[in-house]
Amino acid sequence: MNVLGIETSCDECSAAVVRDGHEILSNVIATQIELHKPYQGVVPELASRLHTEWIGQVVSAAIMQAGLEKKDIDAVAVTNRPGLLGSLLVGVNFAKSFASALDIPLIGIDHIRAHLYASQIENPLEYPYLGVLVSGGHTVICKVNGYDDVDVLGTTIDDAIGEAFDKVAKFYDLGYPGGVVIDRLSKSGDDMAFLFPGPTLDRGEHPYDMSYSGLKTGVINQLDKFRNGDAEATKENIAASFQRAAVGILMKRVKLALKDTGLKRVSAGGGVAANSLLRSELKELEKGGYTVTFPSLKLCTDNGAMIAGLGYRYLVDGFRDNELLNASARVQAFKKSYP
Ligand code: KG4
Ligand code: ZN
Repeated sequence: MNVLGIETSCDECSAAVVRDGHEILSNVIATQIELHKPYQGVVPELASRLHTEWIGQVVSAAIMQAGLEKKDIDAVAVTNRPGLLGSLLVGVNFAKSFASALDIPLIGIDHIRAHLYASQIENPLEYPYLGVLVSGGHTVICKVNGYDDVDVLGTTIDDAIGEAFDKVAKFYDLGYPGGVVIDRLSKSGDDMAFLFPGPTLDRGEHPYDMSYSGLKTGVINQLDKFRNGDAEATKENIAASFQRAAVGILMKRVKLALKDTGLKRVSAGGGVAANSLLRSELKELEKGGYTVTFPSLKLCTDNGAMIAGLGYRYLVDGFRDNELLNASARVQAFKKSYP
């Protein structure tokens, strides 16, 4: 079954064709980074306008690069929540018209679950596993029981981890998008130059919840307070010290959740799962007998292949959406609420 996956929830206009849920025939990602760069953040109106201009070409390119024609597409999967409403609507409306014109099934996909599923396309991992979703909009530690069955254990209570990377980079004018630049600068910085507030743990009611706003404020407003001796405030030192603290906050919860749940498998997803420090710290867990997977770099950030891959799972289990499919900016109940 050839599934076309469409993703327009934020600033990547992407379409992919995935065969039988695992063979990625194409994965076209048209990024709007250059357009948003002057504003150092995504401007929603500009994003949706560009998706409208690009979506037709991006889908055509995905089908062509897969070596197929429209008639070879068996179903369409599209991100319909959560994300920027205007941007989501472009993808959803395109997908509806495409499915209706070709008379093929349509399925709406939850972006968060697609990130959590992305690693399954290339490295299938047995359920249940501990899911670590780290992106620009979300930070979630969860127990993934199945592709449609996720128990949330902890989330950020304020900023998402990727948002903290982006805001720190914006403040220090490091470049855009922030996560990638901080990751690169960190490699030549001293990660102990600033001892930023680290992973304090609340062992109360919400032990796996995290906060990133304190760290962000510390890095932006209180450099001197956290300076280690006479360390220099270079871009590299700030980036490395911030990254160590940001990854530390997450890893502390991940380790605690693994211990408490007894889960032996871990998988990460989302843009920040591309971070080299996070990847190496997660990989370290293998020494303790855990199995760790994450998506290849191209499947970490937003892409159509993860939508098509997860769409395939729903389709073979008989889920279908119809022309009433709508977009929603909000995070919704995790399970699909109909048969
Ligand atoms: O998953 P994604 O493409 O979009 C959302 O669903 O939010 O994630 C984008 C986020 C941005 O905050 C970006 O700065 C971050 O992922 N990111 C990284 C890296 N690459 C992308 N953060 C840290 N290190 C990276 N290498
Ligand atoms: Zn995303």
